Amino acid sequence: MLLERDRDSSQPMADPAFRQDIIQGLSCSPKSTPPIWFYDRRGSELFEDITQLAEYYPTRVETAMLAAHCAEVGALTGPGRAVVEFGAGSAIKTPYLLSAINPAAYIPVDISGDFLRESSAALASRFPGLPVVPVEADFTKVVNLPHGISAMPKLGFFPGSTIGNMTAAEGVDLLRTMRASLGSGAMLLIGMDRVKDVDTLVAAYDDAAGVTGQFNMNLLVRINRELGGTIPVDAFTHRAIWNDDAARIEMHLEALRDIDFTVDNCRFSMREGETIHTENSHKYGPRDARLLLRAGGWEPVREWTAPGDMFAMILAQA
Ligand code: AVI
Repeated sequence: MLLERDRDSSQPMADPAFRQDIIQGLSCSPKSTPPIWFYDRRGSELFEDITQLAEYYPTRVETAMLAAHCAEVGALTGPGRAVVEFGAGSAIKTPYLLSAINPAAYIPVDISGDFLRESSAALASRFPGLPVVPVEADFTKVVNLPHGISAMPKLGFFPGSTIGNMTAAEGVDLLRTMRASLGSGAMLLIGMDRVKDVDTLVAAYDDAAGVTGQFNMNLLVRINRELGGTIPVDAFTHRAIWNDDAARIEMHLEALRDIDFTVDNCRFSMREGETIHTENSHKYGPRDARLLLRAGGWEPVREWTAPGDMFAMILAQA
């Protein structure tokens, strides 16, 4: 255990939740770490780069779907809703929705304050008459929305198939939490990636330029920097595997040789070929998607699918 007096005082205190998740995850067999810790500043930038890759179809396909179908979304939601975007990040897809549905306010919710403030400022200048009120919060817990929007009907917006990074149980909990955050009468527009051919799926998570590999490996760099780790980053390689039984892409960091390292003075060893399982990205058939939404307290109202059944966008009612 690293004592506070041993810590370099020029270094900011590591997030205790990060420390706990990493130490606990590396102590398990097989080793696994929650994907939320990918998104430090560098990780968020690398994820933005991923969304521009030719192989990473979800962003491109979902953006085209929003451009094509938001007018219909607006007809179904009606005007005057407060749009609450969960995990807004760079909010690249949001303008399509905001310009089509005549909203009363836009509330981006994100745990990363830096990114949130930058993207909110950009959106506020693009939609001058629209109140934009960013909320820095963990949306896996019930979010206290600003008082000024309490009387407005809400539209939750959760694009990107981010729900796929959760287990089914976590996804159901999250959908229920969103329902509680948004209140009765709310609607939810959610993006969910489809099961498709394995080559397309694996290429999307193992691109030729190696950007997804850098995104995965950045977790090790972050652990070394923020938790005083001694992980030999060059002893790892990125792996993306389709798990057909669980209908998910799994990302792993595989040890290329036997290694020993410490994280915050805790000792770990890995054998050659052993992996740290860093992310799941679940893909859904049409029935799975609807089942998940209903289990989370949302009744699907309308569903759009991209050509080739590449991706789905579902509007649901609380
Ligand atoms: C954020 N999330 C929906 C992405 C996905 O596709 O699962 C994260 C990602 N991981 C690797 N590439 C993209």
